[in-house]
Amino acid sequence: MSLLRTGRCPTAIRHTVDGQIAPLAPLAARPVVAAPTRTVIAHGERRSANRTKWATAEPPSGAAGPAVAESPVREQTVAEQIWDCAQDLAPVFTEVDRLVAANVRKVQKAFRDHRIGPHHFQGSTGYGHGDLGREALDSVMAQIMGAEAALMRVQFVSGTHAIASALYSVLRPGDEMLAVAGHPYDTMEEVIGTRGTPGHGSLMEWGVSYRELGLTSEGRIDWEALKTAVVPGKTKVAHIQRSCGYALRPTLSIDEIGKAVQIIKAQDPNVVVTVDNCYGEFTDTREPCDVGADLAMGSLIKNPGGTIAPGGGYVAGRADLIGAVAARLYAPGIGIDAGGVPGSTLRIFFQGLFLAPQTTGEALKGGRLAAELLHREGFTVIPAPGVPDVWSMITAVELRSRERMTAFCRGIQRTCPIGSYITPEPGVTAGYGDEVIFADGTFIDGSTAELSADGPIRAPYVVYCQGGTHWTHWALALEGAVTSLREAVAKDN
Ligand SMILES: Cc1ncc(COP(=O)(O)O)c(C=O)c1O
Repeated sequence: MSLLRTGRCPTAIRHTVDGQIAPLAPLAARPVVAAPTRTVIAHGERRSANRTKWATAEPPSGAAGPAVAESPVREQTVAEQIWDCAQDLAPVFTEVDRLVAANVRKVQKAFRDHRIGPHHFQGSTGYGHGDLGREALDSVMAQIMGAEAALMRVQFVSGTHAIASALYSVLRPGDEMLAVAGHPYDTMEEVIGTRGTPGHGSLMEWGVSYRELGLTSEGRIDWEALKTAVVPGKTKVAHIQRSCGYALRPTLSIDEIGKAVQIIKAQDPNVVVTVDNCYGEFTDTREPCDVGADLAMGSLIKNPGGTIAPGGGYVAGRADLIGAVAARLYAPGIGIDAGGVPGSTLRIFFQGLFLAPQTTGEALKGGRLAAELLHREGFTVIPAPGVPDVWSMITAVELRSRERMTAFCRGIQRTCPIGSYITPEPGVTAGYGDEVIFADGTFIDGSTAELSADGPIRAPYVVYCQGGTHWTHWALALEGAVTSLREAVAKDN
């Protein structure tokens, strides 16, 4: 087979002689013995960050890529370090297990209270009128989220879509949207209108004004500024992003969200507090509506889908507002009672929701492992190693260069179940202003509930690690990522 085809770049992958990846070393220190290895050249594919496009102009080359020039001695050393970290993390993992158990109890109770049975799994067609399963799912989600009502629907494409639907359902021309916890996630810029295509109907284009409160130098909400930030009668939405997004700042605690709600409502009780809950679900035993948020929004290919939901999103909150969100998602008059759910999707949604506390826990453990290891490698990580003040689904690692981000993501991708032959590249992606790189070799396209790492290519060059069905997959992925990273660092020096 010719190596000169466009769109294909041979990528060398090291296997042991029997074609297996070398096993991790046992915990006890032992002399490192180099396993006999051979290098095989496999035909990989290069992919830009735009998930819909494939790079087509790769230089034909048979040379081994940077991620493969590993010596077996070095690889085993990384593996040993990983298992040392895992051993030290045993008490941290126990804390995660307690959180998981509390949330499994909460979810199971909601299922029991709503008498969920196989008759809820039938699905529906067309309008989906009278779909018992969809209605029960909405109610179960509302209970879990501490809300009066919820829409947990396959028709939401993503978290951004759920958040946008909530904002558009509340805001009207002349209203103000106030972002309380700094600059919202990148994809919100086009929704709000601070960036994007004229004529696409951003909130600002519809006559909504926008203001944001910057974070303090520690990345916290500026409580003093918040006390006077609301303009009564003008500020209609106060928007809080719980998780860090692509910012080097801590995840907000539920207590912080509750405090913000109180400060906002004290200035004007009519302000609608919306919380971008992406990556927040099940990282605490309480959710934003438990502490007074009016609406909370998220994606089902993040935490609450339990890594198996094939798509979708949710909005939970006040019943009157959920009606308006349904009118926005579908159309006024169609509303909350419609929305067909095909085939076995409802069974997967219920099952994913039941699994979600556990898969979130696995992701938290994987994140703690990444934090511990990369801290030992000399990188700044957020949250810092150990039991964090606030559990975060995302672990941010400041890598300080584009090349290191690329190397890290390539190391991760190589150890993913799907598309391990793909070489991630920084590239333009719909919704993002900067180039972005993604390592997301996942069963469900774009599912960051599954093990993934990504980040925008901008200073200070941070890669965000999240998801994972089992933390031991992170042990494998980190072996690949740190090996690649060390090679990139060595090139810097
Ligand atoms: C905090 C936060 N909000 C919103 C989003 C957007 O979610 P989605 O990619 O599902 O549109 C993300 C994505 O990572 C996020 O981290």
